[in-house]
Amino acid sequence: MVKILCIGAGYVGGPTMAMIAKKNPKVKVTVVDINQKRIDAWNSDNLPIYEPGLDEVVKAARGKNLFFSTNVDKGIKEADIIFVSVNTPTKTFGHGAGCAADLQYWEKCARRILELSTSDKIVVEKSTLPVRTAAAMERILDSGKNGVHFDVLSNPEFLAEGTAIADLENPDRILIGGHPTARGKKAIKALVDVYAAWVPKEKILTTNLWSSELSKLTANAFLAQRVSSINSISALCEATDADVGEVARAIGMDSRIGPKFLKASVGFGGSCFKKDILNLVYLCESYGLHEVAEYWRQVVKMNEYQERRFVSRMLKEMFNTIAGKRIALFGFAFKADTGDTRESPAILIARELLEENAEVVITDPQALEHAKIDLADVIDRINFEPDPYKAAKGAHAVALLTEWKEYKTLDYQKIFDGMVQPAFLFDGRNHLDHKALHKIGFNVYSIGKAALKHI
Ligand code: UDX
Ligand code: ADP
Repeated sequence: MVKILCIGAGYVGGPTMAMIAKKNPKVKVTVVDINQKRIDAWNSDNLPIYEPGLDEVVKAARGKNLFFSTNVDKGIKEADIIFVSVNTPTKTFGHGAGCAADLQYWEKCARRILELSTSDKIVVEKSTLPVRTAAAMERILDSGKNGVHFDVLSNPEFLAEGTAIADLENPDRILIGGHPTARGKKAIKALVDVYAAWVPKEKILTTNLWSSELSKLTANAFLAQRVSSINSISALCEATDADVGEVARAIGMDSRIGPKFLKASVGFGGSCFKKDILNLVYLCESYGLHEVAEYWRQVVKMNEYQERRFVSRMLKEMFNTIAGKRIALFGFAFKADTGDTRESPAILIARELLEENAEVVITDPQALEHAKIDLADVIDRINFEPDPYKAAKGAHAVALLTEWKEYKTLDYQKIFDGMVQPAFLFDGRNHLDHKALHKIGFNVYSIGKAALKHI
């Protein structure tokens, strides 16, 4: 029986391994993490991450061939294939602070694997890593003296949060990078076999290690670039009365451009886009490619501009003062269908509103606990309210920041009646029916569209 281990039970490791276990009933899959609370949650009915459809996949395999544990060392000793899916945050110290990836957790794992292994193993990079990290890992793993051999592969994960299960079930592609040597090819084949249990062979792409590592960063950079591109145009739309939705539709029908990822918004968030672009920027800088670095850095700068622009517009439209005004933020997660708030535009927006001395109240169906952690230093100045009606009661403005589908069907007449007049609604996701809201009496501002005002 093939034994798979995954180190790191996060947003990537947990769902991915659950799917692998479900699709390969004859393979034993163990997911380990040093965080006891996380592992306890994976073993409970209350999983540590909110992801539609995840419960069913975990329940189908847990206790049969899927196990969650804190016993990292036992897992390493037993495993044939080890996925490393630990966090690789942006460095906050030393060289490359604020840009480069912090690889300390990865390196610690590699050293532990080396220390404990008594049989040959395939070590798979699942975390997103800078190009040529595998070379460093190989140097660490090859420094052992007990004759154990390690094959390092890169197998980046492309799932998006909120749609993780659908993405895993039916991926656009599975990417596996390895060395073109006989041993490398054998390792690649072993990993291909794991995915071939449910993914059509033509969707399993094998490349050299460096192409695989770089493809992950490039995919995220291209996706984020599309959002920043349409968001830059949204600013121009607001200045010219063009409608960004109409522009996106018109350009998206060009088959060379395509319709996806052209939704103007308050800005992109999530644990990947900013981190991976900064990682790419650092990588380019370190190879002396300053123009290339600057090109990609602009994608992040445009995103920050879009977040700040949203707050500036609120301030300007609300008579240049929001001090003492109650503002209800509808949504705090970085996108709908997740409780994740990492790099959510809502974090900066909440803080900027506080800077203006606004009274901030936050509502979200899944993300309030994370919101409290993100805003821990200013928690006394913020209200957290699960009920959107209560959040909006007595408010001067509602700002929709996450496109939760439940926000579409709220009784906006009731919300309007409970608000201070004139009532303002800022739709940071172009998610609501603006004409209907305007008819109720709201002054409606959206992204990249003309305002619908009464005053
Ligand atoms: C992303 C990649 O899509 C995924 O392939 C990779 O593995 C991890 O990073 P994720 O961050 O989970 O996934 O979500 P995604 O759907 O890509 O959205 C990222 C951000 O962009 C969200 O804040 C979202 O609201 C925003 N976005 C996305 C837009 O503002 N407009 C769009 O048209 C699309
Ligand atoms: P992602 O969103 O990429 O999955 P997360 O930060 O959610 O990333 O998850 C990474 C997980 O890796 C965390 O739960 C963390 O506790 C775990 N982790 C980090 N270092 C180690 C380690 N040395 N051994 C086991 N688990 C680790």
